[in-house]
Amino acid sequence: MKLLVTGGSGFIGSNFIKHWFSAHPDDSIINLDKMTYAANPRNLTEFEGKSNYQFVKGDILDEKIVDELVSQVDAIVHFAAESHVDRSIDDPSLFVRTNVLGTYNLLMAAKKYNKRFHHISTDEVFGSIEMGSDDQFNESTPYDPSSPYSASKASSDHLVRSFYKTFGLPVTISNCSNNYGPYQHPEKMIPRSITNLLTDQKIKVYGQGLNFRDWLHVEDHCRAIELILLNGKIGQTYCIGGLKKGTSNMELVKLMLKLMGKDESCLEYVADRPAHDNYAVNWDKINRELGWEPKYTFETGLQQTIDWYTTNTSWWQETKAEAEEFYKKLNSLKK
Ligand SMILES: NC(=O)c1ccc[n+]([C@@H]2O[C@H](COP(=O)([O-])OP(=O)(O)OC[C@H]3O[C@@H](n4cnc5c(N)ncnc54)[C@H](O)[C@@H]3O)[C@@H](O)[C@H]2O)c1
Repeated sequence: MKLLVTGGSGFIGSNFIKHWFSAHPDDSIINLDKMTYAANPRNLTEFEGKSNYQFVKGDILDEKIVDELVSQVDAIVHFAAESHVDRSIDDPSLFVRTNVLGTYNLLMAAKKYNKRFHHISTDEVFGSIEMGSDDQFNESTPYDPSSPYSASKASSDHLVRSFYKTFGLPVTISNCSNNYGPYQHPEKMIPRSITNLLTDQKIKVYGQGLNFRDWLHVEDHCRAIELILLNGKIGQTYCIGGLKKGTSNMELVKLMLKLMGKDESCLEYVADRPAHDNYAVNWDKINRELGWEPKYTFETGLQQTIDWYTTNTSWWQETKAEAEEFYKKLNSLKK
């Protein structure tokens, strides 16, 4: 197979390319990435110069590049997005352009050449689960996005589904919970907290830390995408989540403190994020139909992630400084 992976130099995209090449070494991949602040060129250096890997620096909004690349491949795996909720609160416009119009542009090219299209989306499109409830999102949960980020992803999901219903484009969609693992930008909660502790800074806890999320190890996510691409039913959506459904932020930071040998004096409580949602995902459908289940428990996955950030300090040092600058700017805007 020849794949076009969009956003392959970001967190999940680069883990996916590594996963795909280790499972399908004879396949080819074109990685189309704009190289925004979220991308890291060092993620994929191991594939540079290989005949079956091509990197193209470009924007999914660029019709010419997209047309040319889509025409060459068997399938598109679409990760490229603006992905940080806090940044979407600061400036939503880029989220609409990349996540909505960029997806539309890819769909138009996929339609022109009738190519298989897998769209990576988020459980955040479903909105929030009430505190104290045992509810979980599933494939028939109505959409109810809260942030400009999740609204832009919801919009792209609708477009993808409409291209299946209207034009018969062979699409699949996956809505997954919060990912964590190696190569995640240190602006995101888990790597930010680990790298804070590694540099003797406190972990920031939004509000009282009562909000809960469902945590999915990125390698488990990549296996799920592989299964959907190979065996998923065309036109279908699959929800993907972690083994433990719903971990409060306080439970998460306490586990992290324990695994890193620190205590609660390392916590700093900060003002809650507006429209802070709670998430938990039911992944029965992909388990039943494709035999997928997560391999990592939250504890084993978190330990592996802590070990990775502890050994790979040079990978995150520069981007961490940039991330902290962003948070300083965001905090000054709130005052
Ligand atoms: N990280 C999570 O927890 C999570 C959870 C659910 C869904 N998702 C979805 O998974 C996908 C990947 O997320 P991630 O965490 O790897 O994101 P990321 O921010 O780490 O990476 C996004 C990548 O897309 C690239 N990109 C951005 N705009 C582009 C454009 N206009 N043209 C080409 N490339 C562009 C960036 O340079 C970057 O390499 C996104 O669609 C996101 O919505 C992420």
